[in-house]
Amino acid sequence: GDPEEKYRPLYHFTPQQGWMNDPNGLVYLDGNYHLFFQHNPEKPVWGPMHWGHAISKDLIHWDEQKIALYPDSLGTIFSGSAVIDKDNTAGFGKGAMVAIFTHHNHQEEDRKTGLHQNQSLAYSLDKGLTWTKYKGNPVLPNPGIWDFRDPKVMWHVHSQRWIMTLATKDCITFYSSKDLKTWQKESEFGKEVGAHGGVWECPDLIPMDYKGTTKWVLLVSINPGGPNGGSVTQYFVGDFDGHQFRTTDTKIKWLDWGPDNYAGVTWSNLGDRHLMIGWMSNWQYANVVPTTKWRSSSTIPRVLTLGKVGQSFYVASTVPKEIETAFRPLKKYHGGGTKEVSFEQHLPQAYRFDLKDLKQQAFKVILSNESGDELVIGYREDQNAYYIDRSKSGEVSFNGEFPKTALAQRLLNKGALSFSLYVDVSSVELFADEGLTVMTSLFFPNRPITKLRIVGDKKLEFKELSISRFNTQ
Ligand code: FRU
Repeated sequence: GDPEEKYRPLYHFTPQQGWMNDPNGLVYLDGNYHLFFQHNPEKPVWGPMHWGHAISKDLIHWDEQKIALYPDSLGTIFSGSAVIDKDNTAGFGKGAMVAIFTHHNHQEEDRKTGLHQNQSLAYSLDKGLTWTKYKGNPVLPNPGIWDFRDPKVMWHVHSQRWIMTLATKDCITFYSSKDLKTWQKESEFGKEVGAHGGVWECPDLIPMDYKGTTKWVLLVSINPGGPNGGSVTQYFVGDFDGHQFRTTDTKIKWLDWGPDNYAGVTWSNLGDRHLMIGWMSNWQYANVVPTTKWRSSSTIPRVLTLGKVGQSFYVASTVPKEIETAFRPLKKYHGGGTKEVSFEQHLPQAYRFDLKDLKQQAFKVILSNESGDELVIGYREDQNAYYIDRSKSGEVSFNGEFPKTALAQRLLNKGALSFSLYVDVSSVELFADEGLTVMTSLFFPNRPITKLRIVGDKKLEFKELSISRFNTQ
């Protein structure tokens, strides 16, 4: 096949050509999931940022649209969000789709002032297809903070105002507004808590239900500083009163332990469904992964729910029904009783592997091909941890960090293991313990992966193991 298409996934979004990073402006409207994204259309490396655009009705098939936002005299277009202004608070029109984004204008003289990132607006009166920038931009000028970006705006029902959650270097700053155009600072959060291995970026503030009460989840991406190196998303669970976010739980929590899920935020205008999508890469090597025409894919969208382990709240990430049911069984095994189960058919390029109730023991799922490439997804009993070892998975030498093994501590105590692997040509997403432990990882095999086997350190005993093929339509 076409070498430029070699690693392109089947059910994940990728831009036809050029570079992509963060998802932006996620908003649902009239049956359409809008995904805008950080985009350099000219080259498959980071550069002058635009907002690319894609629409999906089922979270599987994405139709790429015309570029939504181009750089202008105020700068290039960095990350941000979108809302539906039902009550026309901004005066752009009833039901306008309004994008709130960072204008990035890096001039040499800004080295001193740090005034190069400002928040601006654009609106669409035709459901996201064409856009007009607001004449009064920027709406939130920079007060002198070098990293001042990635506004995520939500309607706060209780106080009947818009709340902007903004990444401000080493903390989050909350702002409020009645009309999206004038913003007032409310509070800061995070200087003393959480992981601070890198700059704070791409936040999201989400009200979530826990058994009838509302808790607030604050997602914060950090780069670098991940548990396995580089870019990663942490989160906090607490309370938000319209002014301040507070948490009493100071544990550091990772949304995804794998190396390749960054800058994830949730869709607006979706009611109680908290649906997130991330950028499936890592700033450590995103610009040099071995694709040429296009670079970077989105993750599988994930449904976020709140649960408790012991006294602590945790966010679980699960696969949306639309995607979960888009696979049809190829083979099922029951019971086990041998140390190894190997799938003898030729593997499809996009499939799902499910293991239910494996009696706890060390094991490896090995994906391989005729070139001798091996990707290993396994579990270490002594550490009660899952891991992904891509050191021998094919092309790995483009970056020194890429071959490192990623480890994910299980949140649950030792006990039966249940998980799903979603594989799509050049990525694997592990969802274990009903989404409490998640790992996302890229890999670039020299030739397509054709074989799968699972090997235990003793006889495997499980309820059911299945392999299901992605429905290609
Ligand atoms: C995160 C990020 C954002 C910024 C964008 C620029 O990956 O650094 O903070 O808005 O990418 O492309």
